[in-house]
Amino acid sequence: MLKIGVSGLGRTGLEIARFLLNQPDIKLVCGFCSPNSSKRGRDLGELLGLSQLNIPIIHPQEIELLEEKPQVVIDFSPHEAALENAPLFYEHKINLVMASTGFHDLELKKLKNITLKYNRGIVIAPNITKGVNVLMLLSQIAADILNSYDIEIIEQHHNKKVDIPSGTAIKLANSLPREAQVHAVRAGGIIGVHKTMLVGQYDKIEISHESFSRTAFAEGALTAAKFIHNKSGIFEMNHVLDLNNILSKYLIEVSDSTAV
Ligand SMILES: NC(=O)c1ccc[n+]([C@@H]2O[C@H](COP(=O)([O-])OP(=O)(O)OC[C@H]3O[C@@H](n4cnc5c(N)ncnc54)[C@H](OP(=O)(O)O)[C@@H]3O)[C@@H](O)[C@H]2O)c1
Repeated sequence: MLKIGVSGLGRTGLEIARFLLNQPDIKLVCGFCSPNSSKRGRDLGELLGLSQLNIPIIHPQEIELLEEKPQVVIDFSPHEAALENAPLFYEHKINLVMASTGFHDLELKKLKNITLKYNRGIVIAPNITKGVNVLMLLSQIAADILNSYDIEIIEQHHNKKVDIPSGTAIKLANSLPREAQVHAVRAGGIIGVHKTMLVGQYDKIEISHESFSRTAFAEGALTAAKFIHNKSGIFEMNHVLDLNNILSKYLIEVSDSTAV
């Protein structure tokens, strides 16, 4: 049974933990918090409003104390904390699903270097849901076909989200064959919307993805954890979901069925 820990027990991390508790094939063994957190030393079951489940919440420097160490940590903590904690996890041969966003280029480079130095595995996933990865693939195809159209990306999130634009919007923009304008909305409790608009002189196309529950993040994170637990190297969600392979198989099938 795959043993998982969750780091960053905030809005998203707690939902991830709740989801993992209901999965038959994995064991949630611990939560990780900041050094001065009021959650430190508490039980994760209790923190979730459930019974005592003997799932300790500790700071990553206390991993030695754990009776059962995780094989993979899913990280939804602030990016500075995630970068600081990564070597502590790697020292204990724990792989990472890095869902934290907002890393600057230099921080991302450091994270990759640490991963290689410790010979561990990481999925770097600012775009953790399956749906948003499909949005990216479809946007790339549409941008290639409609190669004279302007591209605008609009992302919407809740008003507590600190990074602007979102990690997914940056990744989406970088994946497209030409420059795209990115617009960000921060309002109320919006969980996450990403839209690509391709606008020509006479028509437009919109490709849109909306997460209406944080469970969408949890499903993606679990898929990534199962993928990375026995690997070393640096991966992204397109590797986890194998979307390029699915697309090439689809194209071969379509070309076979239309061949005369
Ligand atoms: N990849 C995706 O698709 C995706 C989706 C949603 C969110 N995210 C990202 O996930 C991150 C968290 O988002 P959120 O909305 O859940 O934020 P949040 O509610 O502020 O939660 C972050 C939590 O991290 C904890 N934390 C702070 N320092 C820590 C440390 N040193 N070690 C461990 N935990 C620490 C904090 O609690 P304590 O101080 O009590 O420990 C806090 O509750 C953001 O970067 C966000 O952009 C990514």
